[in-house]
Amino acid sequence: MNFPTLLVPSVLVLLFSITASPGISQPTGARCPAINPPPRPNPTVQYIRPRPPLYPPGLNLMPTRPANNPGPLANRNRILFITQELKRNITYDPFRYTPTWVGNNYCLFKGFFCDTVPDLNITGLASIDFNGARFGGRFLNFYRFIRNLPDIAIFHANSNNFSGVINNGLSQLRYLYELDLSNNKFLGVFPRNVLGAKNLTFVDLRFNTYNGTLSNDLFNFDTDILFINNNGFSQRIPANLGNTPAIYLTLAGNKFSGPIPTSIGRSWNTLKEVLLLNNRLTGCLPFEIGYLNQTTVFDAGSNFLRGPIPQSFGCMKYLQFLNLAHNQLYGAIPESLCRLPNAYNFTLTYNFFTQVGTQCMRLIRAGRLHVDRNCIMGLPNQKPAAECNRFFARPRSCARESTFSFVPCTLSNSRTSSSNIDDIDGRHLREITPPPPPRTYAALEKGQN
Ligand SMILES: *[C@@H]1O[C@H](CO)[C@@H](O)[C@H](O)[C@H]1NC(C)=O
Ligand SMILES: *[C@@H]1O[C@H](CO)[C@@H](O)[C@H](O)[C@H]1NC(C)=O
Ligand SMILES: *[C@@H]1O[C@H](CO)[C@@H](O)[C@H](O)[C@H]1NC(C)=O
Ligand SMILES: *[C@@H]1O[C@H](CO)[C@@H](O)[C@H](O)[C@H]1NC(C)=O
Ligand SMILES: *[C@@H]1O[C@H](CO)[C@@H](O)[C@H](O)[C@H]1NC(C)=O
Ligand SMILES: *[C@@H]1O[C@H](CO)[C@@H](O)[C@H](O)[C@H]1NC(C)=O
Ligand SMILES: *[C@@H]1O[C@H](CO)[C@@H](O)[C@H](O)[C@H]1NC(C)=O
Repeated sequence: MNFPTLLVPSVLVLLFSITASPGISQPTGARCPAINPPPRPNPTVQYIRPRPPLYPPGLNLMPTRPANNPGPLANRNRILFITQELKRNITYDPFRYTPTWVGNNYCLFKGFFCDTVPDLNITGLASIDFNGARFGGRFLNFYRFIRNLPDIAIFHANSNNFSGVINNGLSQLRYLYELDLSNNKFLGVFPRNVLGAKNLTFVDLRFNTYNGTLSNDLFNFDTDILFINNNGFSQRIPANLGNTPAIYLTLAGNKFSGPIPTSIGRSWNTLKEVLLLNNRLTGCLPFEIGYLNQTTVFDAGSNFLRGPIPQSFGCMKYLQFLNLAHNQLYGAIPESLCRLPNAYNFTLTYNFFTQVGTQCMRLIRAGRLHVDRNCIMGLPNQKPAAECNRFFARPRSCARESTFSFVPCTLSNSRTSSSNIDDIDGRHLREITPPPPPRTYAALEKGQN
């Protein structure tokens, strides 16, 4: 039996147990916490999910009348005027949209989609799809254009050259519920006026060059999807992060520093996927992350996070993808984490973890837990001992150390299975069907998703 080699003997353990915090030296595996955790916080606001549609029934974006004979068109002169202005400003149109922008029937223009405007009960411009059009021009003024499309519900313009200030008139667009300005040329501070469009459920501003701090009211904004990855946002993530009712949230690829706000646990009944990777986050992982019992994707890789993985992570029962690679995390990988039934890809590489137990070994053997480049004795592809010793020679500590042993749920106790020698080789690990690719990971690509 090769089990004992999994435990860390010798000098590392010694170093570790001398300097380790009480939280870290807690035994792994499911057992009663020494201290009761605070109860799961109430979400700040209860939001209606799913929201009632703005353009019933279900926006299929086909005109109810034939496209070549739509009858009266809502706001026709205004839309034709601004479209011709935009057309003049577009100097590069590789997919030849603008040559179709002729005549009086905007429903036939490439990229324009009509539907019956509910409150006008005539055909109007309901959707713009310029995704991937790659329009170029010295100044393609997004705000001036959309402001003259009064009935618009969906505006998708991934990978274009739109820019300019977004004025507060955006709030007048009563039906606007999807706004995708990803991979354009927007810059400056976060466009707070976007938050005036209260019916938005999809806000995608990723891959621009916005910078500065995030406005505090961003996480009080009611939206399902909030993608602001790959900009230049900096400083701390606002402390009210957990107020967000977003289901899919990407803050990755910015310059955020400071800790992950402890309020994150408040979004437990909504947040499904959250990407924090490739920032400059510091501090230890707050145990409150363990409250997120709907979350399937948690990614805080490539930051400067330190400390152990809180035992509370064992409560994230829908977690499929966990990435904490390239940080400075250490301690034992909690056995309760490795018992999570939906663990599909847990990547903890390039840290300073020192110990794995039998549950985690089974997950490693099944190719679902990755622990290369750590300090785990007995496992292949670990860091050089000298690097580990250097790391552990420095003092380390986390604030709120006692919280690392909080377990804010009832863990399924599979003590029996872990003591069963047959399970150690991984044969009895439940097969899981590969989950569909996470929605948020697609947002890390510049293109549309
Ligand atoms: C909408 O207009 C059509 C005629 O174009 C009419 O038959 C229908 O009753 C109107 N619906 C409402 C809700 O006013
Ligand atoms: C896109 O806009 C920028 C300014 O925001 C401008 O410098 C650049 O030349 C434009 N690109 C094209 C292809 O028109
Ligand atoms: C077109 O370009 C002009 C001149 O730069 C600018 O003032 C205007 O806002 C632009 N309009 C649109 C719709 O891009
Ligand atoms: C949002 O949509 C509802 C339903 O159509 C409408 O009554 C409301 O005015 C809209 N809100 C805004 C801020 O436009
Ligand atoms: C934000 O970007 C603008 C121009 O893109 C620049 O002038 C400004 O200094 C930047 N601010 C910060 C805080 O990086
Ligand atoms: C999450 O936890 C709450 C409160 O502890 C519980 O009521 C809820 O059913 C849990 N949700 C899931 C999906 O397990
Ligand atoms: C697992 O996740 C890591 C980190 O996100 C990623 O680099 C790797 O490609 C993933 N592996 C699989 C098989 O999905």
